[in-house]
Amino acid sequence: ARPYDFFGEHQAGIVTPVQEHLHFASFDMMPRTDRADLIELLQDWTYAASRITQGLDVSATGAVGGSPESPPDDTGEAQGLPASGLTVTIGFGPTLFEKDGEDRYGIRDRRPAALERLPAFLGDDLVPESSDGDLCIQVCADDPQVAVHAVRNLSRIAFGRARLRWSQLGYGKTSRTTADQQTPRNLFGFKDGTANILADDTAALDENVWVAASDEPSWLAGGSYLVARKIAMLIETWDRVRLSEQENIFGREKGEGAPLSGGSEFTEPRLAKLDANSHVRLAHPDTNGGTRILRRGFNYVGGNNALGRLDAGLFFLSYQRDPQQFVTLQRSLSTDLMNEYVRHVGSGLWAIPPGAAAGSYVGESLF
Ligand code: HEM
Repeated sequence: ARPYDFFGEHQAGIVTPVQEHLHFASFDMMPRTDRADLIELLQDWTYAASRITQGLDVSATGAVGGSPESPPDDTGEAQGLPASGLTVTIGFGPTLFEKDGEDRYGIRDRRPAALERLPAFLGDDLVPESSDGDLCIQVCADDPQVAVHAVRNLSRIAFGRARLRWSQLGYGKTSRTTADQQTPRNLFGFKDGTANILADDTAALDENVWVAASDEPSWLAGGSYLVARKIAMLIETWDRVRLSEQENIFGREKGEGAPLSGGSEFTEPRLAKLDANSHVRLAHPDTNGGTRILRRGFNYVGGNNALGRLDAGLFFLSYQRDPQQFVTLQRSLSTDLMNEYVRHVGSGLWAIPPGAAAGSYVGESLF
């Protein structure tokens, strides 16, 4: 398969057909860094990302082409592997624009008004170790080794300027962004991503995903906002729920994914026929004044806890033109029957700048 372009109007990794693996990383800038450090970091990340997404080492000397007396530029574990659909998507958190009342990078006035920490939601159980961050990098690839190589090397390149705050591995996409992708399943066993915004629906993307030139601020035009929510699933409890109730909770059949109001997977649900607190009814655009988002989440399993319960869930990722779209939906879901079986443990919001042109770098329009 051809590698995905790194440069372009929009960053890759949003409408790109969802890959099999995720390594999501959140970074904080180091104390005493300044505007030049931040710009250089973004330039260095852009350079390395533009190479590794094409299946190359992070630099021309790479893993083995440099001096035997120095540590290699590239850590080397992706040698011989193809690009594997790698995408690297960079975002800016609210704290990048102002920290401890300081305008360290001279961008305080450039913060999008909508880029604020998400409000607290009913039932939130957030931990700082999976939340927030000055910068984020969403890395997706069809090979987990390629994804981890990317985060490892981008963290290494950031040395002295930014450090990894937290990161999350995901596998098994829980959404699709193109019609030819089979709808994958989440860990509750349901098809996930049936009613999503797809890559070829440019009208819906312009309306719901891309920040428009007429939106504020203008440096973000062609970009988006990324919400990440680490949602733990109480798998063992769920597995004791009878099938008919599982289906009632979502408002869809577990097998084919058809709405319980009839038809097949892609038949529009007749909402009045679904339980008033079913997930699909509460999340549907018709219940939310037309609100839509692009979902791009992944399953995760981080082993088990001391009681032998799986530490598992859904690393929910959504892209929207305005964070308010997510807020509207998440508030609507406050009475979701599914809530008994999930806990939101991590949260973050980042502005995703537009794609960079070749010769430029991601985020240039901000400075
Ligand atoms: C639909 C699962 C969290 C928004 C669905 C569907 C499933 C599902 C099975 C039906 C198939 C589909 O259209 O994709 C889950 C699980 C979650 C979760 C297991 C957490 C562990 C969320 C959150 C939001 C959300 C946090 C947004 C705040 C939506 C939307 C739809 C949807 C917008 C499509 C509704 C429609 O247009 O029919 N979800 N979901 N979901 N979900 Fe979720």
